[in-house]
Amino acid sequence: MATFSSGGGEKNEATERHAHVVGWGMAVPESALTNEELSTFVETSDEWIFARTGIRQRYIADEGESTATLAYKAAQQALEIADILPTDLDLIVVATSTPENIFPSTASLVQDWLNAHDAGAFDLSAACSGFVYALNMAADSIRAGSIQSALVIGAETMSRILDWQDRSTCILFGDGAGAVVLQASEVPGGVLSSVLRSDGAGSDLLGIPSVGSIDADDSRASSNGAKLYKMYMAGSEVFRFATRVISESIEQTCTAAGIQVNDIDLVIPHQANLRILQAAARKLGLDADKFMSNVERYGNTSAASIPIALCEAIEQKRVQDKDHIALVGFGGGLAWAAMLIRWGVPEPSEQQGSMFNRQRRHVQYRIAKWRSRSRRWRRRVNRKVREIRV
Ligand code: UT7
Repeated sequence: MATFSSGGGEKNEATERHAHVVGWGMAVPESALTNEELSTFVETSDEWIFARTGIRQRYIADEGESTATLAYKAAQQALEIADILPTDLDLIVVATSTPENIFPSTASLVQDWLNAHDAGAFDLSAACSGFVYALNMAADSIRAGSIQSALVIGAETMSRILDWQDRSTCILFGDGAGAVVLQASEVPGGVLSSVLRSDGAGSDLLGIPSVGSIDADDSRASSNGAKLYKMYMAGSEVFRFATRVISESIEQTCTAAGIQVNDIDLVIPHQANLRILQAAARKLGLDADKFMSNVERYGNTSAASIPIALCEAIEQKRVQDKDHIALVGFGGGLAWAAMLIRWGVPEPSEQQGSMFNRQRRHVQYRIAKWRSRSRRWRRRVNRKVREIRV
């Protein structure tokens, strides 16, 4: 079992750099698929799905929507709220299990579309824990002083890797994206502590076999019987694992930050199943109301579920200044991760003017399209010229 943890929020706060969430945004596809609609082509029912999971509907990407387009929309919203320019970003990380390509990364596409030309970009694969892993990596880079601001996105089109014949998985998942902007500040607070964990011995319980798989030349199935590019899951075992690690990792991240579990104002967990969240709340001795849940409307959107739930919690005014917010993700790997944040969005700097910046952002998005097209075009012309010369 590999372990990694960081934390200890309160020491020398005044002299330290802190990583604060200063912007947030989310996007889901246009079309929702209800349990009733699902039960017209899968042998299931609204009663079964709702009773076992708390899910009523999920959003499904249409032909024109993808992991990158959803990520881009969520990112634009987050930049709007942060009121910074894409060119101010130093880093873009997209946590996803359904990337546009193995490479180039979805993050690189988003970087190009935003015109974030000074940002490094990469995808992070840690399944449903991916967003917390990515946020931790970005926060650590900010606190270490190597970057000033980062865009962290969780984005998925789970509908594209579901086996629609398998009723034990296809009823659970949906598509969507959520994003946050993280920024350096001297104001104490922001990300206080994180706990990242992995247990690869559970890799056969949940996964998507892909091109690097031992059985990749066999288009039907991989060695544990799962189909290539299709999700498999041993539901009840993952359920037991999830309830255990949620409480364990939240306790660990509280200890690392020097606070009590009872000091948590809101838990924003990965939205896998309402029953899992209720069981975890009981284990922690917390009121179930302290667990944010919107699984009813979105299903399980994997790495996107935590940032989407965070956006809705903010919208519902469930997140207040100085609140202690716990994020917790769990899933394929097996991997899990928890993070404690002391909420507090620092005042924007004086040179930022919302209207002016909004227009500058829109100009940059337009420039991004032309810049990208003209670069491709120039490369093609240069290639042709070289061919003619030879
Ligand atoms: O995001 C990554 C992390 N993922 C999770 O945390 C998910 C964890 N697992 C779960 O949420 C639950 O295990 C499930 C919702 C996937 C399944 O619920 P369960 O209460 O564990 O049901 P089960 O798999 O034990 O199945 C119970 C019965 C079975 O029938 P029998 O064998 O008892 O006759 C299944 O065949 O329910 C049947 N069943 C269904 N019936 C109607 C399984 N799926 C369905 C379905 N509709 N969609």
